[in-house]
Amino acid sequence: MKKGVNIVVLGSAGRMGAEVLAAVKNHKHAHVLATVSKPGALERIKLSAHDRPVVMIDFSSPSGFVEGLRFCRKNEIGFVSGTTGLSAANMRALRAASKKIAVFWSPNMSFGINLIAELLKHQAFGNYDLQVEEFHHRNKKDAPSGTARMLQNVLCAATKKNIPKPLSGRGGGIFGIHKIWAMGDEEVLTIEHTALNRRVFASGAVRAAIWISDKSHGLYDFGDLLK
Ligand SMILES: NC(=O)c1ccc[n+]([C@@H]2O[C@H](COP(=O)([O-])OP(=O)(O)OC[C@H]3O[C@@H](n4cnc5c(N)ncnc54)[C@H](OP(=O)(O)O)[C@@H]3O)[C@@H](O)[C@H]2O)c1
Repeated sequence: MKKGVNIVVLGSAGRMGAEVLAAVKNHKHAHVLATVSKPGALERIKLSAHDRPVVMIDFSSPSGFVEGLRFCRKNEIGFVSGTTGLSAANMRALRAASKKIAVFWSPNMSFGINLIAELLKHQAFGNYDLQVEEFHHRNKKDAPSGTARMLQNVLCAATKKNIPKPLSGRGGGIFGIHKIWAMGDEEVLTIEHTALNRRVFASGAVRAAIWISDKSHGLYDFGDLLK
């Protein structure tokens, strides 16, 4: 029997799904158990006791997220999702599921963005005006990006102020550029992160899947993993 974690890849035919497949195939402790790229196809997957531990990695769509979460709850396996554009109801379902299974959701699976988010949690930024800006490829479906919303929320909590809605640009093949502007009267600070490929998100998701594979339940994000 192979050692490690068996992975169900949801959204496997997509841009991120292809990167996740490659990242799992290159990982010593993870194996592809099944791939799913069409709505309803999850129902055909039957897990057996010797497949475990099994974790699903989802980069699909909000409807894929719903199907994936339901499957993981039913089969009592871990769920790692990077899908964005989720509703408040989707987030409530994630929290409810976390009472039974281990779930990990992050709108950005890169180490760099999560490091920036951790650092920002402790900055009050005085009288500086703050603005988050993001650019992505022309095919990205949601705007502002989930990452920009996350950074905006972190800044709101840290400064106890309302931060304006993030600015979004779409074009070309940009994997993801996020910039935080802190605008003072005498100086301007910018903190910027550029993803150079999609591999950075895929390897973060595989790392998260291995990390939650031995957890019975709970709601986790990258902040927990970095601790
Ligand atoms: N957290 C992060 O670090 C991160 C990084 C990059 C992207 N993302 C997010 O990941 C998601 C996917 O991005 P992407 O660029 O890979 O999109 P994509 O290229 O459109 O891939 C999504 C794939 O999921 C499939 N799919 C959609 N609904 C499904 C369902 N119900 N069941 C099974 N498969 C389903 C799609 O099939 P069809 O084409 O047939 O609909 C498509 O093959 C987006 O929400 C994006 O914002 C997150």
